[in-house]
Amino acid sequence: MEKFVVTGMENGLRGRVQISGSKNAVLPILAACLLTQDICEIRNVPPLLDVEHMAELLCAMGAKVDFDKEKEIVTVQAEEIAQAEGNYEAAGKMRASFLAAGALLGRCGQARLPLPGGCQIGSRPVDLHLKGFQIMGAKNRQEHGMVELTAKNLKGGEIYLDFPSVGATENIMLAAVLAKGKTVIQNAAAEPEISDLADFLRKMGAEIEGDGTDTITITGVRELHGAVHTVIPDRIEAGTFMTAAAITGGDILLEHAKEEHLKPVIAKLAECNVKTENTEDGLRVYRKGKLHPIQLKTMPYPGFPTDMQAQFMSLMAVAKGTSVITETVFENRFMHAGELQRMGADIKIDSRSAVIEGVEGLTGAKVRATDLRAGAALILSALAAKGDTEISDIYHIERGYHQIDEKLRQLGAEIRREEE
Ligand code: UD1
Repeated sequence: MEKFVVTGMENGLRGRVQISGSKNAVLPILAACLLTQDICEIRNVPPLLDVEHMAELLCAMGAKVDFDKEKEIVTVQAEEIAQAEGNYEAAGKMRASFLAAGALLGRCGQARLPLPGGCQIGSRPVDLHLKGFQIMGAKNRQEHGMVELTAKNLKGGEIYLDFPSVGATENIMLAAVLAKGKTVIQNAAAEPEISDLADFLRKMGAEIEGDGTDTITITGVRELHGAVHTVIPDRIEAGTFMTAAAITGGDILLEHAKEEHLKPVIAKLAECNVKTENTEDGLRVYRKGKLHPIQLKTMPYPGFPTDMQAQFMSLMAVAKGTSVITETVFENRFMHAGELQRMGADIKIDSRSAVIEGVEGLTGAKVRATDLRAGAALILSALAAKGDTEISDIYHIERGYHQIDEKLRQLGAEIRREEE
């Protein structure tokens, strides 16, 4: 077990940082590779544990997978699907493995995967995924913690999602591309990762329209072929570094970040008195004056991303005045508040809202990363705190950030890795 030891900075972060490919885009794209016998080449793949787990899962199903971590390229060839199932060992390691369900249903007419459990941030059911599959003619049975899906003839249908779930939208798209007829997903998620998946599927020969809006129409085709695709930059990694610059009063340049995907984050940073400039070299983020308090509500895209909520709580903890954060996407996503309090933050939680009274300064403490983004928030607070902060359980952080410590060191941070 490793921990990060972070020493609070006197001066802000300065320099350039390269944003990696998007974790949340690459996972469904890897699942999509199951839809063809041909070779698919995916570029700009971040070398993260979650990606390795997805690669292992595809291998267990019979695909040949090569992950060149230096070049950040994954090649997949699923010439045959030896077994349309993921056992608990291979698939139980991460929730996103359930995205293989749609692709397996589309390709083989059957799928068997562990029912993803809840996690630190909420109960996270998959009822909307299953409802979509059912409308497309699939039967589902749940036994011993596994979901078994079968469809003799997968057909298109009209699917209204009660909530614009990212995973359900992706899973239904993956099943629909090879189904018979037209599928319309209403109240679909519009996240950039959905459009990246749609772009890859179109390169494979799929017919998809409306991605990026709340209505996606997919016309099933007989077969798909191999394709080469470069994954979009990770907007949450970018947002995290932007918030790091903001909290330390720094001035940094993000290379490979996409401004259009970061609009809600940029707008809220502007309210906090943090400036952003889209330059030829990348996205410049800097703060000179004091941090202003804000009101913030997480929403599906293009609303403010729930995956940036924890990092903004760190920022609000040192702003001058009272801020309010309302979390509407996940039911229990304030685990970081308790850890931030250990560093001197003044935060009160009332159901889905957090009231944050900005304090003069935070102090280093021993804290624990309870999940991926909560862990990132602790690093940000530690950069702005007085003295050293020890962050344990950093494996959560490393699930979603490639070399976050090295990237921060390049920007002048003092962060080191130690054995627990
Ligand atoms: C994805 C992202 C995650 C992000 C989230 C919301 C990946 C791998 N993960 O997760 O980082 O925080 O989108 O932007 O891309 N829900 C149901 N029933 C369902 C499905 C979802 O009730 O069948 C609920 C969830 O419990 C949650 C909300 O809908 O409260 C949003 O979940 P969803 O959009 O599905 O998130 P994920 O795809 O799991």
